[in-house]
Amino acid sequence: MARIEAEVGKPQGGFMKWIDDRFPFTSTMKYHATEYYASKNFNFWYVFGVLAMVVLVIQLVTGVFLTMNYKPAAAEAFASVEYIMRDVEWGWLIRYMHSTGASFFFIVVYLHMFRAMLYGSYKKPRELIWIIGMLIFFVLMAEGFAGYLLPWGQMSYWGAQVIISLFGAIPGIGEGLVEIIRGDYSISDITLNRFFALHVIVLPLSLIGLIFVHIVALHEVGSNNPDGVEIKQNKGADGVPLDGVAFHPYHTSKDLVAIIVFLMLFSAVVFFAPDMGGYFLEHANFEPANLTATPEHIAPVWYFTPFYAILRAVPDKLWGFILFGTAVLLPVFLPWLDRARVKSIRYRGWIYKSALSIFVVTFLSLGWLGTQPAEPIYVLAARIFSVLYFAFFLLMPYYTTVDKTKPVPERVVYHG
Ligand code: HEM
Repeated sequence: MARIEAEVGKPQGGFMKWIDDRFPFTSTMKYHATEYYASKNFNFWYVFGVLAMVVLVIQLVTGVFLTMNYKPAAAEAFASVEYIMRDVEWGWLIRYMHSTGASFFFIVVYLHMFRAMLYGSYKKPRELIWIIGMLIFFVLMAEGFAGYLLPWGQMSYWGAQVIISLFGAIPGIGEGLVEIIRGDYSISDITLNRFFALHVIVLPLSLIGLIFVHIVALHEVGSNNPDGVEIKQNKGADGVPLDGVAFHPYHTSKDLVAIIVFLMLFSAVVFFAPDMGGYFLEHANFEPANLTATPEHIAPVWYFTPFYAILRAVPDKLWGFILFGTAVLLPVFLPWLDRARVKSIRYRGWIYKSALSIFVVTFLSLGWLGTQPAEPIYVLAARIFSVLYFAFFLLMPYYTTVDKTKPVPERVVYHG
């Protein structure tokens, strides 16, 4: 079927031929969708890329509708969000979809990144897909951060205050940099305005551009799979990988199931627990920003807390900032830190399996500790987990070299 279509090539006549003579529509669709061959043994972990795209669309659509009624001014922002929640028809739904979407974006992207660590998807020849992915992650963090200031609640204001002032720790340029970010001597209406511009235009556009490049890079080298076998090395006489199946309808049908389950979970949160007990929308943010009273306990939203815990674990402001920045940047270098000869966890030895398990516990624990007040016991725990976090990356060249790996099969393992 695929071969016949490939031989037929362009449509012979009619409207599609008219389009194809002017724009490579059919060939692009074939190359990137209908005849993109991906391994037949994709599993649960392979749905998160598509789900990230679904969340992106949710965020873009709901974001446009929110912008129709939101007022990016310090005197009006909080009230305009309340107006959306109470008076705009379906406004509450649009707003809760957007706020829940922000957290789901990070859940999906963290799982998507973890998949790459399970199956060594960042290793040669996919280093660039990973690096572009990390750029997406940084832009996503900036997008989440800028968005959180917009409702102009207590935590919007004081959270931004804490994070922006971090940059002040950089010797020499710190104070100037803080002023550039704020656009003022303190967080003000001006800051809100520029964060709005970044949140609705600059960062979403950058995200879309980066995701486009991410997919182009992926389709150039082809997807990895749970076995870490390069399916392009085993092609049939027709040039199609023997272990590959066409993206449509084989992967699209599986992805559709994932999208439906995802939307069910998403709706459960939107309708029954939109603030998720203070994790998705912090309680203090239901009060308008008060420049004269700090909230009792300032903590960023959950998706920043693993890194925030590392920051707080260090007593010195400058070193705290350096370690915080290093913690965020270190995963960029995974393709070179990981020296194992095999990609997938299936064929790695016990050392990597243990290291990755400890890393998962470490990351989740740091995330939880970052939401807690800075009491001595929590700070001590955060210090221990920070050491483990850095050890995972910095010792990787060593333990992935000595770890005993198993032979990788020629073809992917698939039990139909
Ligand atoms: C908005 C955010 C993102 C979107 C929409 C997105 C989209 C996708 C899609 C659709 C795929 C192919 C399907 C799949 O393998 O799941 C993919 C693959 C991949 N992505 Fe992302 N991605 C995003 C963020 C990231 C981030 C933050 C990273 C890592 C830092 C990353 C790393 C990768 C890698 C390594 C692959 C290849 C995986 C493999 O073939 O095993 N992506 N991405």
